[in-house]
Parts: sequence; structure tokens; C-alpha cells
Amino acid sequence: MRVRAQLVWSLCVLAGQGAEAAITLDLTSKDSIKAAASTIAFDLMSYYTGNNTGDVPGNLPDPYFWWEAGAMFGTMINYWYYTGDSTYNAVTTQALLHQAGDDGDYMPLNQTKTEGNDDQGFWGMAAMTAAETKFPDPPAGKPGWLALAQGVFNTQTPRWDETTCNGGFRWQIFTFNNGFNYKNSISNGCVFNLAARLALYTGNATYADWALKTWDWMNGVGLMSPQYKIVDGTHNTDNCTQKDPNTWTYNAGIFLLGGAAMYNYTNGSALWQERVTGLLNASLLFFDDAGIMFEPCEFGKCNIDQRSFKAYFARWLAATAGLAPFTHDVIMAKLRTTAKAAVGTCTAGKRGTECGLRWNMTNDGSLGVGEQMAVLEAVQSNLVDEVPGWVSAVKGTGTSRGDVNAGTGSTASSRLTTGPVTTADRAGAGILTALVLLGVLGGSITMILE
Ligand SMILES: *[C@@H]1O[C@H](CO)[C@@H](O)[C@H](O)[C@H]1NC(C)=O
Ligand SMILES: *[C@@H]1O[C@H](CO)[C@@H](O)[C@H](O)[C@H]1NC(C)=O
Ligand SMILES: *[C@@H]1O[C@H](CO)[C@@H](O)[C@H](O)[C@H]1NC(C)=O
Ligand SMILES: *[C@@H]1O[C@H](CO)[C@@H](O)[C@H](O)[C@H]1NC(C)=O
Ligand SMILES: *[C@@H]1O[C@H](CO)[C@@H](O)[C@H](O)[C@H]1NC(C)=O
Ligand SMILES: *[C@@H]1O[C@H](CO)[C@@H](O)[C@H](O)[C@H]1NC(C)=O
Ligand SMILES: *[C@@H]1O[C@H](CO)[C@@H](O)[C@H](O)[C@H]1NC(C)=O
Ligand SMILES: *[C@@H]1O[C@H](CO)[C@@H](O)[C@H](O)[C@H]1NC(C)=O
Repeated sequence: MRVRAQLVWSLCVLAGQGAEAAITLDLTSKDSIKAAASTIAFDLMSYYTGNNTGDVPGNLPDPYFWWEAGAMFGTMINYWYYTGDSTYNAVTTQALLHQAGDDGDYMPLNQTKTEGNDDQGFWGMAAMTAAETKFPDPPAGKPGWLALAQGVFNTQTPRWDETTCNGGFRWQIFTFNNGFNYKNSISNGCVFNLAARLALYTGNATYADWALKTWDWMNGVGLMSPQYKIVDGTHNTDNCTQKDPNTWTYNAGIFLLGGAAMYNYTNGSALWQERVTGLLNASLLFFDDAGIMFEPCEFGKCNIDQRSFKAYFARWLAATAGLAPFTHDVIMAKLRTTAKAAVGTCTAGKRGTECGLRWNMTNDGSLGVGEQMAVLEAVQSNLVDEVPGWVSAVKGTGTSRGDVNAGTGSTASSRLTTGPVTTADRAGAGILTALVLLGVLGGSITMILE
């Protein structure tokens, strides 16, 4: 025992003396980037228990919410796309299909009662990424990746709400959830981003119309400023007058990539070039003087969700560099500096390779799914020039099975159609509330029995 303890101690001292980072990253070497990504991905997936016997595919354990699992599988699709390593493809496919729900629209019965538009949106965007990167198709008899993304789009657009604030999407889907009175940038960003990408992939102008409508609303209501700064959200209780002024990397990123998709869809229009330029400019505010990405909450305390936001920001920046090549050099310079700094924090945890939250310092002790995901996306994004660009049906390269009517027959979506509340709606809501009560009751009985 004593000998072993001493040996470990000596090794630690040696490691310290060498000042060697736990993960080496040479950005001029493809293999080095892939090796670093592989180590970070392994630590990330060690949090996942959904493939254990008796567990539910696609769920992360507490304290991670359902949406973050969808976001994580989006990262794992990108991991395969950038590195070619298919180690996690089977669990990723299993998770994305299991959580799609009975109607193929990411409204699974187990989640709908607390599901927000943004939660659903993150799963939908993961399915869209699978179509765009040509992630191996689901088996026959299952909906295609494109159809799953369309299922999300088709269930979300009927929720457009003109009863207040001239339109916009609410944060929550159901009246009984806190946040039903909140119209926020991320929920509107999910629709904008997905619609623009569906337009680019399919060439169908209806999707582009929805992207424009959402964009115009964001600007009209003032959630996006003339300087392209995006704040968190606004309440419809005062007709969206006051705003929650918090800014987040993921709001900048989700509109930036949606804008880049519109730029590419419009064959490089001057209008979208200007908008993407402005959005990129506003995105640069999330990099410090050294060029390292940061989340504003890092100055105080970030919650579990917020610790993952840089993952999506890095992901969407890299994709923007592909779709809007005029942004490439500015973006890649930032992603190089950021990846270097981020990997420097991967020195903690059981294996000594887990990464931290803040990247301008040594590991800050904040470990978890969000932290791993963010560093993984920052690192693997540096392979964007090494992979074929996104495919599409328009170009003839994208072959994912679609279904323009996906989700339209879903029971959830017919209950949720907004607009004037009718007697039928009230009856529907009543039944739903009763079901939810039953669910809560069922949950507490289980807990008591345990
Ligand atoms: C579940 O997936 C993880 C990550 O891919 C893997 O390490 C683990 O062995 C898998 N567990 C089972 C029971 O298949
Ligand atoms: C729904 O949740 C229950 C309880 O966790 C689980 O047993 C079941 O497999 C889940 N169903 C689906 C379709 O995920
Ligand atoms: C609510 O705000 C919108 C602009 O966002 C405005 O067009 C509309 O007239 C306002 N409605 C009321 C009732 O004040
Ligand atoms: C385009 O998308 C809309 C919205 O989903 C759909 O109603 C329409 O049928 C699609 N058009 C074509 C040609 O696929
Ligand atoms: C982009 O260019 C292609 C090929 O010239 C054309 O078919 C398509 O309609 C254009 N798209 C838009 C949105 O103008
Ligand atoms: C870039 O952003 C800064 C800060 O928001 C702003 O002052 C400046 O006018 C912007 N420049 C352009 C070209 O949009
Ligand atoms: C690193 O960034 C944090 C905010 O994330 C800031 O408070 C701190 O001063 C920075 N440290 C250094 C060494 O620049
Ligand atoms: C659209 O994106 C592709 C990569 O997917 C790129 O090669 C092309 O140049 C982009 N189009 C424009 C107009 O920038």
C-alpha cells in the first residue's frame, strides 16, 4: 500500500514537473486533433447510462435534463462527422430514435408534460445534423433523419402566437408550465435555425418563409438589436415591453448559423451577407482579449444547462465557416485559440483528462456533461476543412428520407394548436391536465413504494 501511494505521488510530481498537459493537441495534425477528441468524447460518454440494462435510451442521469441529452447526441453526430470514429454511432442512433416519440416529432409521452419548444428544438436540430452530415440512416421502418427534423418543424410552427407581441413563439408549449408567458430568443432561434437549414437542404421556400418571419419578429420586438445583440427573452404579460437583458453564446450562435444557412440558400445574397457579418461581429463579444471563448455567466455562476452553451456556439460557428466562406478565417482563428486553451483544462477527474468550465485558466473544478461537450465541439470544429461540406437534396448529395407531413397528425400537435381557445381546446387541456396530475401522482406513489 505504502509503496503504491509513493509511486502515485512520484508520478504526480513528475507530471507536474513536465508541465505536460493531460491531452496534447497539435492543431497542424489531423491525427492529433482526432486523438484529443477521442479522449474527450470517451469522458463525455462515460456520463451516459441510457444504454445500461433497464435504463431508458436517450436519457442522461440527474441532474441533466432531457434536452441536454438531445444536444449531446448532436455533438456525437458531429464527433463521427469530423473524426470518422463510429464507436458511438449505435448508441447515438438508438437514442435519437427512442426519444422521437410515437409521432416522430420529439414529443415523447414521457417528456411532453414538461417539454419546452427549445427542448424539442435541440433534438430536432440533432436529427437535422444527421441528415446534413450523412450520418448512417436509421433502419428501414423507422423515420429518416430529415423526416424527424420536419416533424419538429411541423409541430412547432402551429404554435406561432399572435395573441400578444405581434407574434413569436413562446418558451413553453403548455399553459400550465411556468414560462408559458415568456417569449424567448432560444425558442424562436430553434425555429429560425431549423427552418433555414430545412430550406437549404430541401430547397422548399416555405421553410425559408418561416425563417424570415421569425427573424422579422425578433427584430420587431427588440430581442435582437440593430447591432445584432440578442437578449434572453420577454414576457407577453406586458406585450413584450421589458426584456431579460442576459446574453448567451448559444443565442448568438443559433442565429448566426441560421443566417449562414439563409445566406447559402439565397446563393450569397447581399442582404444575408450583411446580416451574417453583423451577427458574427456580435458573436466576437464572447471571446476575451486573448481570443478565448467565454460564457458571460462564468463571471458569476453558471447552472447545469448554461455550462453546455459554448458547445453549441462552437458547433454553429464551425458550420457557419462552411456555409458562409467569407466568415471562415475570422471564425477559425478564434476556434484555434479557443481549442488550445480549452484542452489545457482537461486535467481532472478519475482519468485525469476531464475538462473544466472556464478556459482562460487551469482546471476550475467544474466537471460534467456540459463542460466535456463544450471542449469536444471546440476541438473537433478544427477539422471543418478536412470533411466534406454539408449535403443536401438540392445538390443531389443528401439522401435522407423526408416526410413533409411528419408530425402533422400527431395527437400532441392537434392539442397544442394556438389561436383562439375553443371549447374543444379547453376540453383537451382539461384531459391533459388530468393526465399530468395522474402522472405526478403515479410518480409520488412510486417514490413512496421505494
Ligand atoms: C454504453 O455506451 C458507453 C459509451 O459508448 C459504453 O462505454 C458502455 O460500455 C455501453 N454500455 C453497455 C451496457 O452497452
Ligand atoms: C418512459 O419512462 C418509464 C419510466 O422511467 C420507462 O420505463 C419507459 O421505458 C419510458 N418509455 C419510453 C418510450 O422511453
Ligand atoms: C403589442 O406590441 C406590438 C409590437 O411588438 C404592437 O404592434 C401592438 O400594437 C401591441 N399591442 C398592444 C395591445 O399594445
Ligand atoms: C414545402 O413545405 C411545406 C411545409 O411543410 C409543405 O406543406 C409543402 O408540401 C412542401 N412542398 C413541397 C414541394 O414539398
Ligand atoms: C440559387 O441558385 C440556383 C441555381 O442557379 C437556383 O436554382 C435557385 O433558385 C437559387 N436560389 C434562390 C433562393 O434564389
Ligand atoms: C460590431 O459590433 C460593435 C459592438 O456591438 C459595434 O459597435 C460595431 O458597430 C459593429 N460593427 C459592424 C460592422 O457591425
Ligand atoms: C478569466 O475569465 C474570467 C471570466 O470567465 C475572469 O473573471 C478572469 O479574470 C479571467 N482570468 C484571467 C487570468 O484572465
Ligand atoms: C454554400 O456552402 C457550400 C458548402 O456547403 C460552399 O461551398 C458554397 O461556397 C456556399 N455558397 C456560398 C454562396 O457561399
